[in-house]
Amino acid sequence: MPTTEQSQTAVVFGASGGIGLAIARQLLARPEIERVWGTYRDRDRAAELLQLAETQGDRLRALPMDGTDERDIAAVTQAIAATTNHLDLAINCIGILHDQERLQPEKSLRQIDRDRLLRYFEINSIPSLLIGKQLIDLLKGDRRSVFACISAKIGSIGDNQLGGWYGYRASKAALNMYLKTLAIEYARRCPRAIVLSLHPGTTDTALSKPFQRNVPPEKLFSSDRTATQLLTLCDRATPADSGCFFSWDGTPLPW
Ligand SMILES: NC(=O)c1ccc[n+]([C@@H]2O[C@H](COP(=O)([O-])OP(=O)(O)OC[C@H]3O[C@@H](n4cnc5c(N)ncnc54)[C@H](OP(=O)(O)O)[C@@H]3O)[C@@H](O)[C@H]2O)c1
Repeated sequence: MPTTEQSQTAVVFGASGGIGLAIARQLLARPEIERVWGTYRDRDRAAELLQLAETQGDRLRALPMDGTDERDIAAVTQAIAATTNHLDLAINCIGILHDQERLQPEKSLRQIDRDRLLRYFEINSIPSLLIGKQLIDLLKGDRRSVFACISAKIGSIGDNQLGGWYGYRASKAALNMYLKTLAIEYARRCPRAIVLSLHPGTTDTALSKPFQRNVPPEKLFSSDRTATQLLTLCDRATPADSGCFFSWDGTPLPW
């Protein structure tokens, strides 16, 4: 966020996950941050976030939200709007690559399944656009705001050399298109808001755990390092960056 003494507010969607929780913690360490809202889906998986909220008193409010249900997103928006009319930062860290049931990245066409493809879009693409729709009034003021969503380099069509992972790749490519299009509408309707699509780098979380074997240690970031890098991008972003896709180090990525 910009250097200012003014108190600031932020919301982290998916604050129970590896990257989301690290971002919430780092925001809370900033003295200018007056309040953070952090959403979680499953109470049993959100123990760390809920514990953190207990230690922070009213500075961190943990709210339940399933990203696939627009009513939940609207309820979170209303809860925020009851306290503030402006968000300085909204960051969506919700995402899925695999689950304990049947969802696994596809290695070949033999594994393609319609319902699993839809599941990737339902969680990795559509929630960001619904959040962009619901939050517009809170990002609209005369103060700068940032709406950042965590995408993935693997969603770059131009960079796709390896193939595979059809559902995850396509869902992140769709996310990028949603964000680029949203940035164009925001430029008219809330011009102080900067929309960012960010690749975090391979980060040591539950999402990447089964796929870390071939990642050299120096290329596997801790959640804390990733949070620092992504928040630095949010802090430095200018209006000219809105609607762009950046890697963790600020390098622009091809669509
Ligand atoms: N880790 C990496 O190497 C890497 C690389 C590139 C991109 N990314 C992206 O970074 C983002 C954060 O991932 P992560 O690594 O922090 O993974 P993670 O630890 O698995 O966190 C994912 C978060 O998404 C939430 N979530 C999943 N489905 C949801 C739904 N339907 N509604 C609401 N929340 C839902 C999870 O909540 P529950 O715990 O309740 O399921 C969790 O809070 C994702 O978008 C991911 O695609 C990660």
